[in-house]
Amino acid sequence: MAKPKVFATHSLFDAARKILSETCDVEYWAKPERPPREEVLRRVKDKEGLICLLTEKVNEELLKAAPKLRIASNVAVGFDNIDVAACTKRGVAATNTPGVLDETTADFAWTLMMAVARRLSEGEALARSGNWKNWDLDQLVGTDVWGKTLGIVGFGVEKELKAEFRDMNALLAESDFVSVHVPLLPETRGLFNAPKFHRMKPTAFLINTSRGPVVDEAALVAALEGGKIAGTGLDVYENEPIIHPGLKRANVVLAPHIASASLETRTKMACIAAENVVALFKRQRPPNILNPEVLKAS
Ligand code: DGY
Repeated sequence: MAKPKVFATHSLFDAARKILSETCDVEYWAKPERPPREEVLRRVKDKEGLICLLTEKVNEELLKAAPKLRIASNVAVGFDNIDVAACTKRGVAATNTPGVLDETTADFAWTLMMAVARRLSEGEALARSGNWKNWDLDQLVGTDVWGKTLGIVGFGVEKELKAEFRDMNALLAESDFVSVHVPLLPETRGLFNAPKFHRMKPTAFLINTSRGPVVDEAALVAALEGGKIAGTGLDVYENEPIIHPGLKRANVVLAPHIASASLETRTKMACIAAENVVALFKRQRPPNILNPEVLKAS
C-alpha cells in the first residue's frame, strides 16, 4: 500500500526524519529560508499530512488548498498559527509539541532577565568596540537579580513549586521582574498595555518569552520612554520578524524568538511532531491532539 504523502515545511532533524520514514512519504522543504506562502499552498495540494512551523498559517485558505489533508502537526507548543476550529470543521487533526520545551524556555527567560538587569548588551558592545578605556566604579552599573521578587504570569503550578499566588494587580505592584508565560488567545492579546505598565514599579523589568502580541509594543515603548518601567528583555514581537524601532534602546535586550533553541529541545520538538503524524496514519491517537473530536468522527 502506498504510504501517505506528507509535506514538511522544514528539513527537520535526522531523528525526526527517521521516525517518519517507515510510515510516510515525506516531501521536505530543504531551503534555508521559510517557504513562500504560494509554495506551501501548492505543495499541500496532494498531501494527507503537513508538518509545519509557527511561521506557517494553517487557516481556511490552506485547508481549502489541501482537500486530502488529515493532520497538521505544528513543531511548536504555541498553536496560534493554527485555526483549530477550521481544522475540526474539515476533519483535520491538529497537534502541537507541549512539555519538552518548558525548561529550555525557562532557561532563556532567566538569560533575558540577567542580561537586561546587568546591562549585558551594552557591556558586550563596549567590550567588542575597542573603546573600553578602563575599569570604573560606576561603569555600566545594573541591578541585582538575586534577592528580588519574580512575578510569573501564566505559572499555573504555584503550590508544587512553593510560589505564592497573587492576582495580576498585586503581582505587577510587587514584582521586580515580571515574566510572561501565557499562550496567545483572544483574551491575552494586548494583555500588557499602558495601565499594566503604570502598575509596575519604575525599577521593574518585563520579560517576554511567550508570544509578541501579548504585549502592546507601542505601549511598552511609551512605558520605557516615560520611565514607567526600568527595562525589558524580549524574545518575541508583535509582528515578527519586524521589531518596533522604539525597542532598539539601551535598557532593552532583544532576541530573535530563540527561547527553545537548544539542539536537544528543537530535536525533541521535531520528533514529537513526527510521532503525532505517524500515530494518526497508524490509526492511533496522536499524543498531542488539540481537537480529539475529529478522531471520533472518522
Ligand atoms: C513554541 O513552541 O511555541 C515556541 O514559540 C517556539 O519554540
